[in-house]
Amino acid sequence: MWLLLWVAATLILIRMLNKLSNGRCYADTVMSGKVVIVTGANSGIGYATALELARRGAKVIAACRDDERGKAAVSSIIKRTGNQSVKYIHLDLSSFDSIRKFVKEFKSSEAKLDVLINNAGAGGLGRKKTADGIVRDMQVNHFGPFLLTLLLVPILRKSAPSRVVIVSSILHKFGTIARINEENAYGYFQTYCNSKLCNVLFSNELARRLEGTGVVVNSLHPGQVNTSLYKATALEKLRSLVLYTFFKSPEEGAQTSIYLAVSDECDLVSGRYFADCEEGNMSAKARDEGLAKRLWSMSEQLVKLRPEEAI
Ligand SMILES: NC(=O)c1ccc[n+]([C@@H]2O[C@H](COP(=O)([O-])OP(=O)(O)OC[C@H]3O[C@@H](n4cnc5c(N)ncnc54)[C@H](OP(=O)(O)O)[C@@H]3O)[C@@H](O)[C@H]2O)c1
Repeated sequence: MWLLLWVAATLILIRMLNKLSNGRCYADTVMSGKVVIVTGANSGIGYATALELARRGAKVIAACRDDERGKAAVSSIIKRTGNQSVKYIHLDLSSFDSIRKFVKEFKSSEAKLDVLINNAGAGGLGRKKTADGIVRDMQVNHFGPFLLTLLLVPILRKSAPSRVVIVSSILHKFGTIARINEENAYGYFQTYCNSKLCNVLFSNELARRLEGTGVVVNSLHPGQVNTSLYKATALEKLRSLVLYTFFKSPEEGAQTSIYLAVSDECDLVSGRYFADCEEGNMSAKARDEGLAKRLWSMSEQLVKLRPEEAI
C-alpha cells in the first residue's frame, strides 16, 4: 500500500516538474491575413499547431494524407475556433506526384504563403521503397518535405517576410546520412534518427541559400510528446501511464512550432535549432556545412528536381 502511494506521489511530482519545465510561446501575435500550411495537421503536434494558428486568425491549409482524417480535423478546428478559413488539401509525402499536385492546387487558390510548417513525420512504416524508389520513412520525413519546400520557395520568396519551420527531433543527434536510401541498411529507429538529422541539415542549408531574401528557416525539437507517433513502437503498451506522466501533451509539444511561426523575436532568425521556445544545441554533424551540401545534392537527384526548380 505504502509502495503504491509512494509510486503515485513520485509520478505526480515528475508530471508537475515536467509541466513547469516546458517552454511556452507567450507571443500574442495575431495572424489574420496570414496564410499558413501545416503538414500532418490531422493529429498530434500538427493538429495542435493548426488549431492555435487558426485561433489567431490565420488562413490554415491542413495538408494531410487521408481525406477522411484531414476533413475531420478541419471541421473540428473550424468548430473550436470559429475561423472559417481553414481548408483541407490532400498531401501524401510518400508520393512525389501527390506533392506536385498539392503545390499546384495550393497555388491555384492562394496568392501567397507566409508560413510553411513541415510537421508531418512517421516511423516504422516499413523498409520497402516507395514507387519513387525511396526508403519510405526517409521519403515521408525528409525527401518529400524537401521537394514540397523547394516547389514552394518561389511563393515564399514572393510573400517575404515569410517563414519555414521544420519539425525535427533531438534524435537527430544519433543520425547519419550514409546509405540512407539503401533498403534494409538500418532498423526503424536508426532510419528515424537519420531522417531527423536530414531535417536539421536541410533547414540549415536552406537558410544559407535563402539568406537576404526575407525567408527565414528554422528547425526544432518539440520535446517528447504523447502522440500516435508511438503507436508503431513497443511504448504503445505502456502508453497511458508512461506517456501521460513523462511526455508533453500535443498542445505543449506544439509550442515551439507556434513560437517559430508567429513570434516577432524570430523575424530575422534563420538557420537555428530550437527546443522549448529557446535556441537549442544541434549536433556537430548537423552543423557540418559540407554534409548539408552533400545531402542537398543527393536530395535534388533523388526527388528528380527539374533544373528550373533548383535554388
Ligand atoms: N511525438 C514526439 O515525441 C516527437 C518527438 C520529436 C519529434 N517529433 C516529430 O513531430 C512531428 C509530428 O509528429 P507527432 O508526434 O505529432 O505524431 P502523429 O500524431 O503521428 O502525427 C504525424 C502526422 O504526420 C502525418 N503523416 C504520416 N505519414 C504521412 C504522409 N505519407 N504524408 C503526409 N502526412 C503524413 C500523419 O498522418 P496520419 O494521421 O494520416 O498518419 C500525422 O498527421 C513529426 O515530424 C515527428 O517526427 C515528435
